Amino acid sequence: MIDIAFAKPALPKSGALVLLIGEGEVAAGLWQQLDETTGGAIARAFKSAEFKGAKGKVCSILAPGAGLSRVVAVGLGKPAELNSHVLNDAGGYAAAALRQETNAVVATGMLQPAQAAEVALGAVLRAYRFDKYRTRERPEDKPRLAKLTLLVNETAAAKNAWEPLEGVAKGVSLSRDLVSEPPNVLNPAEMADRCKKLSELGVKVEILGPRELGRLGFGALLGVAQGSVNEPRMVVMQWNGTGNGRKAKGKPVAFIGKGVTFDTGGISIKPAGGMEDMKWDMAGAGTVVGLMAALAGRKAKVDAVGLVGLVENMPSGSAQRPGDVVKSYSGQTIEVINTDAEGRLVLADVLWYCQQKFEPRFMIDLATLTGAMIVALGHEYAGMFSNDDALAQKLSTVGQVVGEKVWRFPLDDAYDQLIKSEIADMKNIGGRPAGSISAAQFIQRFVNKTAWAHLDIAGVAWSTKDAPCVPKGATAFGVRLLDRLVAQHYEE
Ligand code: BES
Ligand code: MN
Ligand code: ZN
Repeated sequence: MIDIAFAKPALPKSGALVLLIGEGEVAAGLWQQLDETTGGAIARAFKSAEFKGAKGKVCSILAPGAGLSRVVAVGLGKPAELNSHVLNDAGGYAAAALRQETNAVVATGMLQPAQAAEVALGAVLRAYRFDKYRTRERPEDKPRLAKLTLLVNETAAAKNAWEPLEGVAKGVSLSRDLVSEPPNVLNPAEMADRCKKLSELGVKVEILGPRELGRLGFGALLGVAQGSVNEPRMVVMQWNGTGNGRKAKGKPVAFIGKGVTFDTGGISIKPAGGMEDMKWDMAGAGTVVGLMAALAGRKAKVDAVGLVGLVENMPSGSAQRPGDVVKSYSGQTIEVINTDAEGRLVLADVLWYCQQKFEPRFMIDLATLTGAMIVALGHEYAGMFSNDDALAQKLSTVGQVVGEKVWRFPLDDAYDQLIKSEIADMKNIGGRPAGSISAAQFIQRFVNKTAWAHLDIAGVAWSTKDAPCVPKGATAFGVRLLDRLVAQHYEE
């Protein structure tokens, strides 16, 4: 992650300078000073580029004089429409334009300290890169940005505002690292080991292996795992941020992630084209791990549990067959019609365990669950399913604020009929029509009476194009959404 610092406003003598400029803003402060020292070069460049501070507009000026290597002006748009989202994006645009600089200074103009911290967050998120397996990249091709110094009058206040955001940024980075790792490296055991590292942040981490899961009766999860030589794990992460212990105020909030470290489809095998994408079929779990890191990293005043079910879905002589009937931890039996509908089988056991063990205030699960979700919503919104209107409403609203948007789909007894089985309590697929909904109906059978929301993130976990704060690749969708949900509604 790039380093963030705050300092009092002063024109730098070298390196790069970022100017954040609102629409219709008159030149003032550092911007004006710089324009004068460069003999009007800044104003001339703005004129040529027709840069007027509109939201999302960027004007880069190379070697403008005054010893500077580069000036990057980033538009903030209309002052009345300024919010954290716009500030994050501005930071993201700046970071993208600063790839070739090692150090840069950001003149924040009229922004408050907390607003400057939001700019820093956007920059850090955009500057993320997963390059541990690139060994032959030429130095001049590598992005060099290592440190960003934001100029503010109240440096102490800005630092205070940055501290929790840094915790969130680290959680997002961790999540992206996990999702980006190739599947030969990140198998269930390796992912569990990386979860274990959260204990450094004060998270209690428990890892259950195949024998413990077998003793508990996790027949649905183990059925998926049985075709792989890589053993399954379930990881239970607990963050106690209220200082009350779990008993005092009682119920924690709970997050559950699908962690299929590779999904071949099993015996119902997937076609070869694009199968490599299925390394990110553990993105739901990746988000839960990143979220727990974020909550612990910013010392959120909440009791939260994060549970991830980690398996690899492989075809082999020991793999589960279409037609098998498995007994889930809840006692309900499932006829496995299609071994590629494995995520719901994993979630079934983990969700049942979660509500039995923790009696949470709510459970939110995240899963790259259905290709049908991508057909419905593309890559913009995640699908949301919930048995609790108030929880769903909160998620929708917070999603709009942080730019991780969710769109609610219906649940209905009529859809539940789609997963009736002739020989067991249910089957694991409901046919092509309403494929994402029948998957959600399946999961709902394992949440008991708990308030619950299911986020199908199949379309948003990975991106093939850069967005202002999300470079292409693993997005960590849900970390910021759920962190903000907790901050706004569930902290003491
Ligand atoms: N992990 C996939 C869903 C998926 C597909 C996510 C493509 C992202 C991109 C899931 O396990 C799966 O295979 N679902 C099947 C369900 C079907 C067999 C009912 C699907 O969507 O095709
Ligand atoms: Mn599958
Ligand atoms: Zn899957």
